[in-house]
Amino acid sequence: MGCVLALFKEVNLVDEALLELDSVSKIFTTGLLGGTRIKAVDNVSMKVYKGEILGILGESGSGKSTIAKLILKILKPTSGKILYRGRDVWSIDNKVYYRRVQGVFQDPYASFNPRRRVLDIFVDTMRNYYAELTSKITEELERALSKVGMNVKDVIGKYSHEFSGGQLQRLSIARALLVKPEAIVADEPVSMVDASTRIDILNIFIDLKEEEGLASIIIGHDLGLASYVSDRVVVLYKGQVVEQGTVNILRDPAHPYTKMLLEAVPRIDYKWTTPLRYQVESVQTRHTTGCVFVNRCPFRLEDKCAKLEPHVVNLGDSQVKCWLYAEK
Ligand SMILES: Nc1ncnc2c1ncn2[C@@H]1O[C@H](COP(=O)(O)OP(=O)(O)OP(=O)(O)O)[C@@H](O)[C@H]1O
Ligand SMILES: [Mg+2]
Repeated sequence: MGCVLALFKEVNLVDEALLELDSVSKIFTTGLLGGTRIKAVDNVSMKVYKGEILGILGESGSGKSTIAKLILKILKPTSGKILYRGRDVWSIDNKVYYRRVQGVFQDPYASFNPRRRVLDIFVDTMRNYYAELTSKITEELERALSKVGMNVKDVIGKYSHEFSGGQLQRLSIARALLVKPEAIVADEPVSMVDASTRIDILNIFIDLKEEEGLASIIIGHDLGLASYVSDRVVVLYKGQVVEQGTVNILRDPAHPYTKMLLEAVPRIDYKWTTPLRYQVESVQTRHTTGCVFVNRCPFRLEDKCAKLEPHVVNLGDSQVKCWLYAEK
């Protein structure tokens, strides 16, 4: 135990990332004899610092949940490394790691065993991680519940089906907080709750960041919500990071895909479709060479984009993987 604690008494270097993905790929093989290969995550690098909210944005199938599962050690990368304070997460004991990094998932009903009272699940979580703290259990439960605007009286004796989706999502955040993590990975935490509850739940992450320096990775596909909650944003397309940087990239995007997301934000006053110029042209399959977005890109350069994979270009506050910027 002593050496485990010593491990976390690290020097707090300003630039040290809490979590880092270093050229991480995840390939799934499916079908008979593993005949089909899906590159769900393709050479992704990103960092998450203490006390910030990193938004991961991308459409369905872009690899967002796979990234969450990789960070939470539910899946192992095919290549590349995931580092927690500079150490490969796979070299850290699970109990030690999950004291630092916790997950919150899209469907709160699936996160709680329906046959157990929610408070009993909380007590088990605490005993599991902090056997030495059992005398302070009520205090710790009140502390975690107060962070999500609830208290023990709201929860006592109740099963998960006795809560609304929004309340249960607050409870899953509270359960993660019981462990006193440094980072939470939240995979679409608000996609199953109504619009006003969404903001309340996102505000919990913002308060936790401001009050306790908690880092959060919040995954979603809604540009408005991502720009509301995030300090920095990673934009994924087909498993690749096409653009990442401060939240300003959502207001002033460089990559054509991020531009498309911005142009395609639904508005109340007109019927929404993907803007015409981004609709897929004849070939629907992904190019095995070149840029992942080439088939939908109205700005593509005929001589390059379908043939050569773009480099990542540093634009100061952001990085973009696009030939349009490569030679500027
Ligand atoms: N266990 C698995 N086996 C095979 N393929 C998988 C597996 N998990 C994910 N995939 C594939 O990997 C790709 C990325 O999936 P992922 O669930 O990460 O996407 P996502 O961005 O979370 O999408 P959504 O917004 O719909 O939740 C998809 O093509 C998906 O079908
Ligand atoms: Mg997902």
